[in-house]
Amino acid sequence: GMNLMRVAHKHDIELEGACEGVCACSTCHVILEDDIYAALPEPSEDEEDMLDQAFGLTATSRLGCQVV
Ligand code: FES
Repeated sequence: GMNLMRVAHKHDIELEGACEGVCACSTCHVILEDDIYAALPEPSEDEEDMLDQAFGLTATSRLGCQVV
C-alpha cells in the first residue's frame, strides 16, 4: 500500500523523506487535523522515538511515511 508520504509525493505535495520511509529520520513530519489523528492507529514506539526529534512537534504530529 501507499503511506501518506508517498501519497503526498504522488500529488506533488512537498514532503521530505530523507530515509526513504524506514522510520530513521523525522523529515517527513506532518501535523494532522485532530479528527484524522484520532482515527489512526497509535504510532509505534519507533515512530514515537523519531517524532521526538521532529522540529515543531505537536500533539497530532505523525511521520508521514508511517501513516498507512
Ligand atoms: Fe524518514 Fe519518514 S522518511 S521517517
